[in-house]
Amino acid sequence: MDYNSEFRRSIDRPDEFWREQAANIDWFKSPDTIWQATDNGHGEWFPDGELNSCDVALDANIRAGRGDQTALIYDSPVTNSQKSYTYNELTAEVAKFAGALRDRGISKGDRVIIYMPMIPEAVVAMLGCARIGAIHSVVFGGFAAHELAVRIDDAQPKAIITASCGIEVTKVIEYKPLVDKAIDQASHKPEFCILYQRPQVTAQLQEGRDYDWSELTTNARPVEPVPVKSTDPLYILYTSGTTGKPKGVVRDNGGHAVALRYSMKLVYDAKPGDVYWAASDVGWVVGHSYIVYAPLFAGCTTILYEGKPVKTPDAGAFWRVVQDHKVNMLFTAPTAFRAVRKEDPEADHLTRYDISSLKRLFLAGERLDPATYEWLREQTGLPVLDHWWQTETGWAICCNPVGIEMMATKPGSATVPSPGFNVQVVDMEGNQVPAEEQGQIAVKLPLPPGCMMTVWGDDERFRKTYLDPIKGFYSSGDGGFIDDDGYVFVMGRTDDVINVAGHRLSTGEMEEVVASHPAIAECCVVGAQDEMKGQIPVGLVLIKDGATIDHDELEEELVDMVREKIGAIACFRRAMVVERLPKTRSGKILRRVIRQIADGEDYSVPSTIDDPAILEEIRQHFRN
Ligand code: COA
Ligand code: AMP
Repeated sequence: MDYNSEFRRSIDRPDEFWREQAANIDWFKSPDTIWQATDNGHGEWFPDGELNSCDVALDANIRAGRGDQTALIYDSPVTNSQKSYTYNELTAEVAKFAGALRDRGISKGDRVIIYMPMIPEAVVAMLGCARIGAIHSVVFGGFAAHELAVRIDDAQPKAIITASCGIEVTKVIEYKPLVDKAIDQASHKPEFCILYQRPQVTAQLQEGRDYDWSELTTNARPVEPVPVKSTDPLYILYTSGTTGKPKGVVRDNGGHAVALRYSMKLVYDAKPGDVYWAASDVGWVVGHSYIVYAPLFAGCTTILYEGKPVKTPDAGAFWRVVQDHKVNMLFTAPTAFRAVRKEDPEADHLTRYDISSLKRLFLAGERLDPATYEWLREQTGLPVLDHWWQTETGWAICCNPVGIEMMATKPGSATVPSPGFNVQVVDMEGNQVPAEEQGQIAVKLPLPPGCMMTVWGDDERFRKTYLDPIKGFYSSGDGGFIDDDGYVFVMGRTDDVINVAGHRLSTGEMEEVVASHPAIAECCVVGAQDEMKGQIPVGLVLIKDGATIDHDELEEELVDMVREKIGAIACFRRAMVVERLPKTRSGKILRRVIRQIADGEDYSVPSTIDDPAILEEIRQHFRN
C-alpha cells in the first residue's frame, strides 16, 4: 500500500477505512456504526461500540501472549533508580489500584485529577481510572496551585491523586502544600486525596480526607475492566487557549484507541515488542498518547523517564537511555535537542554510547527548526522525522507515513497529512489558497477518530473556537502553507498561544495576571524568539498615573506573580515599562508588530496605527 492510495481511501471511504482499523483492537462489543453526526456540528466515532481502554492497553496484551514482556521501564536519573514492569505486573498493579478507587466510591463517569511527577504510579493512576470508567484529568506538575484550582473547579473531581514530591534536576518540589492550597482556593472540594509517599519527602496527611497510596492499595481487591461506550470520555486534558481559562479537551475511548493504534503503525512503524520512548511528561498530550496509551495499545515497551535532556547528569542523558534500554524509536520536542546541542555541539557524548538500536528520531510539539534538524541528521545519521499535532487532535495531523511509505523529508516541513486528516490551507472564508501561499491551516470536517469530542462542560466554546471560525473546517490555530509537492509547512500560531520549550501557554492568561498588579494600567505579553526554548514571553507594561514604583522592583513582582499563579514553567522573566502601547485607532494592541520588533524582524507600519512613533520607542526598549 502506498501513501496516496491509503490517504485517498481514508477521505473517500472513511467508514470502510476506519472499520478496518477498528478491527485491530479488542472490543467488548464491536461497533456496527462507524461514524455519526452530532448536534455540536462535529460527529462521533463507533457510537455503538463498547470497550475499555485499560483492557486494550494491558489485558489484551496478556491475552495475546505478551504477559511476560516488559510493558514499562521507569528510568529516573534524578533518583538514581530504575524499575521494570511486565504486562502481567503492570496489569496486577493497575487492577489493584482500580480496586482501591472503587472501594472509595469512584465509579464510571467520576472525574479524578492526577497531579503527579513522572513515576510509575502516575501511569498506574491513569490506567486505574480508565479500568473503572472514571475520567482522569492529569495536571502537569510544573503548574502552580492556582492553575490546579482552576482545573479542580472546572472538572469537579471526586478525588485527587498526588505524590509527596517531584524532583527537578536537584530541586525537590513538595506537591502536598500545592494541592492543599489549590483545594483551599477552589470552590469545588474533592471528597478525598490519595497520596504516594516518595522517600525524598514525607507529606502530612489530613485526617479523614487524605489516604496513603500504599495503605489503600495493599488490601484492595483487583477489579476487571468495565465496559464503557466508545463515546464515553476517557480523559480531560486542559490546554491553553487565548483566554485565561484553559480548555478541557475531552477525549473519547473508542476513537482514541483506534486512532492511536493506527498511528503507531503509520507514524512510528512500531511493532509489538519494540521499545518506544517519548521523552515528554504525562502532564502533556504527548505523554498521554505516547508514553501511556499508544505504546501499550501496540504491545510495545514504553519508557517513563524522570529526568532532563541535560544536567541529569549531562547532555549524554538521552543517548544513555537509548543504550541502556535498547530504544528503537525516540520522540521528543526540538527544544530538548537544542538544549543538548548547546551543551554538546560536537555530540561528543554520543561517541560514549551505543545507539545502534535506534531506528528513527521523531520530533513534535513545536516547529522543528532546520538547524536542529540538520544537526540531528548529521550527528546521528538517522532519519529525523517531524510531525505536527495538537492536544486537540491527540495524534499527528501531518507526518512522514513511515509505516506505509517513507517519504523524502524536507527541512521545516511536517511532511504530509495523515490519512483521515483532510488538511487544507484556506482563508477565513474557507477558500483554498494557492500552493506555496500562506494561510490558515484547517482540516475539512469530519475529523478522524481520536480528536477531541468537545470542551468539557462547554460545547458552545468548542463550536466557537474550532468550528465557527471557518465554516466546514476545524480551525487549527496554526498558519502555514502547502508546497507544490503537497508537503505541509506549519509556521506558527495565528492566535495568542505561544510555545515555550514545547509547552503550550497562553499570553492572554499571563496578561490577566500582570494586569492584576495594582500599579499596572495596561499590559501586553508577546512570545519573543528564544534560541533554546523556541519562544519566551515578554511583557510590556504601562504604569498607572501617580504610581511610583521602581521599574526593576515592579519587574520582579510581576515575575513572581506569574510564577505564583501559572508556574515556573511559564518562564516569564521580563516585563518592560513603556510609556504607551502601539494600538490601532480602534484601540486594538498591535501584538504582531510588537512580536516582530521583539524578534528584530522588519515590520511594516500598519495604516490603522494610532501613533506610528511608538513603534520606534518600543524598538529602543527591546534594544536596551
Ligand atoms: N514540576 C515543577 N517544576 C517544573 C517542572 C515540573 N514538572 N518542569 C519544569 N519546572 C520548572 C523548572 O524547575 C524551572 O524552574 P526555575 O525557573 O525555578 O528554574 C522552570 O519550570 C522552567 O523549566 P524548563 O522549561 O524545564 O527549563 P529549564 O531551563 O530547566 O530546562 C530544557 C530547559 C530545554 C532542558 C527543558 O525545557 C526541557 O527538557 N524541555 C523539553 C520539554 C519537553 O519535553 N516538552 C515536550 C512537550 S511535548
Ligand atoms: P500542544 O497542544 O501543546 O501539543 O501544542 C500544539 C501546538 O504546537 C500546535 O498548534 C503548533 O503550534 C505547535 N506544534 C506542534 N507540533 C509542531 C510541529 N511539528 N511543527 C510546528 N508546530 C508544531
